[in-house]
Amino acid sequence: MAAEDHKVVIAGVPVATEVWDEVRSPWDGSLVGRVPRCGPDEVEAACAGAAAALARGDLPAWRRAEVLDAAAVLLAERTEEVARLVAAEAGKPLRDARGEVARCLDTLRYSAVEARTLSGDLLPLEGSRSAAGRLGFSKRVPLGVVAAITPFNFPLNLVAHKVGPAIAAGCPVVLKPAEQAPLSALALVGLLVEAGLPADWISVVTGDGPGAGVPLVAHPVPAMVSFTGSVPAGKAIAAAAPDKKVALELGSTSPVIVEPDADVAFVVERIRQGGFSYAGQSCISTQRVLVHESVRDELTSALVEAVGSLVVGDPLDEATEVGPLISAEETERVRTWLAEAADAGARVLVGGGEGPGGAITPAVVVDVPPDASLQRREVFGPVVTVTGYADLDEAIALANDSDFGLHCGLFTRDLDTVLAAFEALDFGGVIVNDVPTFRADQQPYGGTKDSGITREGPAYTVREMTALRTAVIRGVGT
Ligand code: SIN
Repeated sequence: MAAEDHKVVIAGVPVATEVWDEVRSPWDGSLVGRVPRCGPDEVEAACAGAAAALARGDLPAWRRAEVLDAAAVLLAERTEEVARLVAAEAGKPLRDARGEVARCLDTLRYSAVEARTLSGDLLPLEGSRSAAGRLGFSKRVPLGVVAAITPFNFPLNLVAHKVGPAIAAGCPVVLKPAEQAPLSALALVGLLVEAGLPADWISVVTGDGPGAGVPLVAHPVPAMVSFTGSVPAGKAIAAAAPDKKVALELGSTSPVIVEPDADVAFVVERIRQGGFSYAGQSCISTQRVLVHESVRDELTSALVEAVGSLVVGDPLDEATEVGPLISAEETERVRTWLAEAADAGARVLVGGGEGPGGAITPAVVVDVPPDASLQRREVFGPVVTVTGYADLDEAIALANDSDFGLHCGLFTRDLDTVLAAFEALDFGGVIVNDVPTFRADQQPYGGTKDSGITREGPAYTVREMTALRTAVIRGVGT
């Protein structure tokens, strides 16, 4: 793939800046492309364009649905090209990058459904004496311009999760994609415009957080900021935008509970996938394995063997299952956390060393103290910890003992256990008989505590991006 300079389109106008940022492969440092380093001037132009598009209001719901469906058709045709772009800029193994493109098709298609079906309510006014005789209904109206700030780890589908519902809702967008992996976002936006979206409905401001993100959040035009990323950045955005609606999808230390009646071989196969795909760089990556004492040894030794067989290497190689972390700094951070845990008595049973290209080899760690970073903080790396428990109450207490609450996995065949755990687990999602790493793009996705405050998934996001406007009609002459 030839590295190119990619102008951004702002308010319908292709823009280049004096300074360009390089996008480099996390695997071998090769140049994947260059993007403009946008700042306050580009943010200003983007917001003005989005405000004008909103004021025109010239894109009816049926047309927005057609655009989203047509973009899905175009993306399906270019799956391989876009998957290779995701793999190159984000270091995501090709097999996972293809999976991300397939999920993005779902996100766009479900967004189109919302554009077609989003409606308000008929209000039951006859139910109260004072309102009887009046007709009441509400409809959903666009909240306004949406500022979308997206992370590197799903550089295509997490963009679609903000842009798709915004288009469905009738909200023009200013998008600031992750500086490490902005090219997939530019590709998606290009497809939407090719599919018929007026170019000023979506502007992209590439660049870093301080240069482009901060002025975007502070700008008076966006009515809403939708952010996925780290906890400190999310909290800073919420503090900087007290007058805007803010949607936050942040991190986690996702646990999975393994009950004694679980099929251990199946559990191990799922953790091998859920803990290590994209080298653990997902908010719902399986991080803390909580296993009943009676099956702890059996599960641990099978997991060590399974994890030791993961193929580490070049993301663009078909055989690769685990690639590099997004940057050398992130690799160093995870190594430091592994070393800290080892100093505190933890044992690394497999992995944790240096693999091809300097990637961290997938690691299983036991005897990790509860206050170690590997247990308490989001690792975002190819590491799982294994901790034993005596009964379900202890497992639930361990799972809940976290600042986060996004997804929790639970393996059991017992329905009573499922129902009891579902009630007691303080998480946005409980994934039964699978790892917490499962997400369907149409489900409500989001967490409790520091994991965030909103739910994403087209049907839920469009509701966040619209407001109810109510009509109460009193008959003339009554
Ligand atoms: C995330 O990292 O929050 C997104 C995970 C996913 O969509 O699978």
